Amino acid sequence: MKAIVIYFSRADENYFGGSLKYIDKGNTEIVAEKIKEITNADLFKVERKKDYAKEYMKCIEEAKIEQQNNERPELKSYLDDINNYDVIFIGSPIYWGTMPQAMFTVLDRLDFNGKIIMPFTTHEGSGLANVVRDIKKCAKGAIVKEGLAILGSSANDSKSKLQTWIDNNL
Ligand SMILES: Cc1cc2nc3c(=O)[nH]c(=O)nc-3n(C[C@H](O)[C@H](O)[C@H](O)COP(=O)(O)O)c2cc1C
Repeated sequence: MKAIVIYFSRADENYFGGSLKYIDKGNTEIVAEKIKEITNADLFKVERKKDYAKEYMKCIEEAKIEQQNNERPELKSYLDDINNYDVIFIGSPIYWGTMPQAMFTVLDRLDFNGKIIMPFTTHEGSGLANVVRDIKKCAKGAIVKEGLAILGSSANDSKSKLQTWIDNNL
């Protein structure tokens, strides 16, 4: 079984338990790296060509507008295909109830037919929100497994939860 983790994650200023602080590594990236430790998956980080603002409140506004316009922002680099992989972990923070639009840029371009998808999110209370539904809409022909939601501030302590989710679904 060969796996890849396709994920978006933003460092810079974010909310933790009610206060704003700057971080070097985003929550979803922390989780993606733990999945790599468990499954030996490759990692593909989805990066917008133009980064979101470093300030949380500005980023919130940018992400809202981008979602309202259903944009497909340009990326720094693209995945040509996922032919070599059986399992695709799709990881994302929740932005306004679903994934940041850059994730849709990626999903729209790939052929998921026959692939196993393992969706996961990090969030501040919304859980999986609409992510599993939205992945199913884009990834036609894929087998979408049970999603896993991890509270952002618990990302560092998520390894045993991830192990159980992977053992139960793969
Ligand atoms: C633009 C933006 C929108 C967000 N919207 C939601 C939301 O609707 N529900 C929620 O639970 N958390 C929301 N959050 C919190 C993030 O999902 C959470 O902090 C996540 O762990 C960030 O992941 P990252 O550090 O990998 O980028 C939002 C954060 C940002 C920056």
